[in-house]
Amino acid sequence: MRVFVLTGAGISAESGLGTFRDPGGIWERFDPMKLATPEAFASDPEQVHAFYNLRRRDLLAAEPNEGHRALARLEAALTASGGSLYLCTQNIDDLHERAGSRVVHHMHGELLKARCTGCGAVVEWRGELDVATACPGCGRRGGMRPDVVWFGEMPVGLDEAAMAIETSDLFVSIGTSGSVYPAAGFVDIAREAGVRTAELNLEPSDNAWAFDERRYGPAGEVVPAFVESLLAGRG
Ligand code: APR
Repeated sequence: MRVFVLTGAGISAESGLGTFRDPGGIWERFDPMKLATPEAFASDPEQVHAFYNLRRRDLLAAEPNEGHRALARLEAALTASGGSLYLCTQNIDDLHERAGSRVVHHMHGELLKARCTGCGAVVEWRGELDVATACPGCGRRGGMRPDVVWFGEMPVGLDEAAMAIETSDLFVSIGTSGSVYPAAGFVDIAREAGVRTAELNLEPSDNAWAFDERRYGPAGEVVPAFVESLLAGRG
């Protein structure tokens, strides 16, 4: 069986990392236009670095939850039986990897990587970033940025993801509000290709209507139960 899973901030909520659009969410406390756009970085890089340094510190203190671990089990079981799991996450955290997922497609980039705007080098980065940080590649200071996709920038690997969706047997969306494109349009690609669709979320997303199956509740409970039923052939 070939399964495509799309995850959003909701799968990391029980690990203590905030979601964006829930009450008290990140975009209720911080202005994305001042912190998550290329223009914001150009006009006030210190403020943008401070925002991502805070999120990087929070991530290093967080642990994967049962939802992440269930998807790692699903990948191992499908691979062992000749199937596949294409795990595409909108999240910039590394909790899928720390839970044991071996192949993760970060369509919005990765918080624990930094990129030099001068030479393009991408490096693992677990510490603080600031305007004085020198690029390990070219040595230039002032050009290092978080290797994440900001509003107005192109997400990573969309063509590859679309092909993976079209050739899958099942499309599962987990912990996302379905309010940000292009990820919110992935379910439409699945439906047009005749792929079965399922939504696992705390509550119905903006495009809940588009899904064949819907299960609601905390990801730490709903995802393990779904994976168990899928692997038992009941899914
Ligand atoms: N278990 C499952 N789902 C949950 C949980 C939980 N414990 N807690 C919250 N949710 C659900 C919410 O109901 C909501 O539908 O997770 C979803 C989170 O939605 P958003 O906060 O909009 O996050 P997301 O969909 O990942 O945002 C997409 O927007 O700002 C950009 O780049 C950012 O990748 C992000 C993108």
